[in-house]
Amino acid sequence: MTNDVLPAARAGLHRPVRVRRARPEDADALGALVADVYVRDGLVPPTSPYVAELRDAARRVAQAHVLVATVPGEGGAEEVVGTITLAPAGTPFAEIARDGEVELRMLAVRHDARGRGVAAELVRAALAEGAATGARGAVLTTLEAMRTAQRLYERLGWVRTPERDWAVGALPMLVYTWDVPATPGARTEAATWPPVRVERVGPWHVGLSHGFTQRANSVLPLGVPDDLAAAVNAVEALYAAAGQPAVFRVGDPGAAPGLGVELDARGYDAGSVTDVLVRPDVAAGAPVALPPGVALAVADAPDDAWLGTWVASKGGRQDVGRRILTGAPAAYLTATDGGGAPLAIVRAAVADGWAALSCLQVAPAARRQGLGRALTVAAIEAAADRGASRAFLQVEVENGEARALYAGLGFVPAHRYAYRRQPTGGDAGTC
Ligand SMILES: CC(C)(COP(=O)(O)OP(=O)(O)OC[C@H]1O[C@@H](n2cnc3c(N)ncnc32)[C@H](O)[C@@H]1OP(=O)(O)O)[C@@H](O)C(=O)NCCC(=O)NCCS
Repeated sequence: MTNDVLPAARAGLHRPVRVRRARPEDADALGALVADVYVRDGLVPPTSPYVAELRDAARRVAQAHVLVATVPGEGGAEEVVGTITLAPAGTPFAEIARDGEVELRMLAVRHDARGRGVAAELVRAALAEGAATGARGAVLTTLEAMRTAQRLYERLGWVRTPERDWAVGALPMLVYTWDVPATPGARTEAATWPPVRVERVGPWHVGLSHGFTQRANSVLPLGVPDDLAAAVNAVEALYAAAGQPAVFRVGDPGAAPGLGVELDARGYDAGSVTDVLVRPDVAAGAPVALPPGVALAVADAPDDAWLGTWVASKGGRQDVGRRILTGAPAAYLTATDGGGAPLAIVRAAVADGWAALSCLQVAPAARRQGLGRALTVAAIEAAADRGASRAFLQVEVENGEARALYAGLGFVPAHRYAYRRQPTGGDAGTC
């Protein structure tokens, strides 16, 4: 699974920040940036041999995962303003990572780009990458002098772990760790979005819902079939009979190891990449007020206005949409203006103690007024009233606006998967 662009739109920035994987051609600019930042901040003496290592970004790009934060520069060309390096345990740049951990190193933001949340976006993107590669936790080392960075890590949920502190000569190295939170898992996720029909192919669940949403029209490859190629053939036959392309959800633990290679060989597309974000508790935070003149209604079933708003954005059959949604207990929230017209909707289903948030939509003319945030908070509360103790949601990696909203509400990356589609055309839509 590859995805090159990890957008990180930030409010308050006159130039939006994007985070993406570094390419070999970024190496010179990156190396200069990191060496300059560390020397100018007084973290490394200019004569230290470590400066040459900081400058050698080409080796890092080749041997580790390096992310860069960029802003649009003169004439539209992008300008690199920050970077971070991820080193999974056992790889050349990992100094202290243990099995199952990814180590974050060499975080640096150019001086003229500071104070705008670039470092937070880099760390969040690094955690999402780490979770995507199946890491169970992350670890990093800081120096006493890196106080600003330490405040940032603590704000993002990192925990000081003094028992793992170490030293370089007489210089103390302070260690922080971060645990990837538990995920609901594909079965619980599916229970909150049940397909109209599920067929079994060995251990796999084949969802069929007249093509309405990828989630309800894809295979959960839960386990390893006896004959992988024969199982994929059987799946393709089921979808062909329904007049749809086959779609597989890939990236979950326990799925057949050779599935990705098999789908590559059959020409399946690289897939839309989705992160599962988790909020480990539903405790009420600071109250979030609705904008003036906006009313909020909470119901146990979607009314026609709610459903019409949602289905209109997907372009499918309303009866199928209703059937999928009402297959699981859920709260449906609608924000309306003074005249009763819907401005925003969201759904909070509940399964296995999890709140599953979905279908958040704010009318374009009503955006950036706090409605998305207020509805998300209200949906979590509605799910808590219905028995949920933690929350999750799925968001495409490219949806920078929504990711920024959720990050601000304490959602953190826990898992990543992709939907891979048979090359026969058709658009099942996503939510
Ligand atoms: C994502 C979406 C729901 C946000 O709704 P909204 O009402 O505009 O969001 P809010 O005004 O409550 O903004 C809350 C935070 O989200 C982030 N955000 C929202 N829109 C943003 C944008 N265009 N650029 C950068 N950040 C943005 C900011 O962090 C913002 O906080 P701030 O205003 O204090 O900086 C809206 O853009 C939308 O409906 N998008 C299409 C549907 C969608 O993507 N749904 C989510 C599916 S998972």
